[in-house]
Amino acid sequence: MMYEVVIPAAGQGKRMKAGMNKQLIELRNEPLIVRTLKVFENDEWCRGIIVVINEAERTQFEQLFSRFHIKKITAVVGGGKERQHSVYNGLRAVKNSDIVLIHDGARPFVTIEQIHELVNEAKEHGAAIPAVRVKDTVKKVCDQFVEETVERSGLWAVQTPQAFHVSLVLRAHEQAQKDGYIGTDDASLVERIGGKVKIVEGDYRNIKLTTPDDLLFAEVILSNWVSS
Ligand code: CTP
Ligand code: MG
Repeated sequence: MMYEVVIPAAGQGKRMKAGMNKQLIELRNEPLIVRTLKVFENDEWCRGIIVVINEAERTQFEQLFSRFHIKKITAVVGGGKERQHSVYNGLRAVKNSDIVLIHDGARPFVTIEQIHELVNEAKEHGAAIPAVRVKDTVKKVCDQFVEETVERSGLWAVQTPQAFHVSLVLRAHEQAQKDGYIGTDDASLVERIGGKVKIVEGDYRNIKLTTPDDLLFAEVILSNWVSS
């Protein structure tokens, strides 16, 4: 089952405090974005990669793509103010697939096995996303005091790649754009137009590198990595 993937990498990485876009941080001599791209480069189901970048960093990114021999890139498009705008720009560059995946450039530890499961479920249900059960107790807090303890049993923390029928996710993004609605993930845009979203059991190691601590976790994950 073939698919295309949109990889948003146009953020600033402010919380990482690296003084540059975190996509360019090297983990064992390979930039984060390259590690993420290589997963899809090596997946035979992937027929095209659309990378969304900040135009000011275009040359830097394009040099990396050629230096690390990433050959499946079909488009490098400019990003927008919010992640959602960047993804929308990327989605409009999808050419010839029924299924599209949307995957954070900052999540290098996704596996091909997980990708295939998501593609299959999205094919059947329209939308499929990976998620892990929340392990901590979650409380709603206001002004540093607890307002409420949220029932944990139904809570899942969601990740990417999120997989969709192209027509469904495009319609969801167009509607959000029209309504001036910004969601925190792509699936939420599908949910608000009434689409069903299938949950696939994710992996706690599929972290998004967000804060400096995550570089430590990434090192631990890498040192235990057994490639499939
Ligand atoms: N992203 C994007 N365009 C934006 C904002 C984010 O393409 N306008 C991308 C990021 O590059 C990242 C992914 O969306 O791969 C997830 O976003 P996040 O982890 O928040 O990254 P940043 O926005 O770069 O980090 P921060 O919020 O700390 O500035
Ligand atoms: Mg951000």
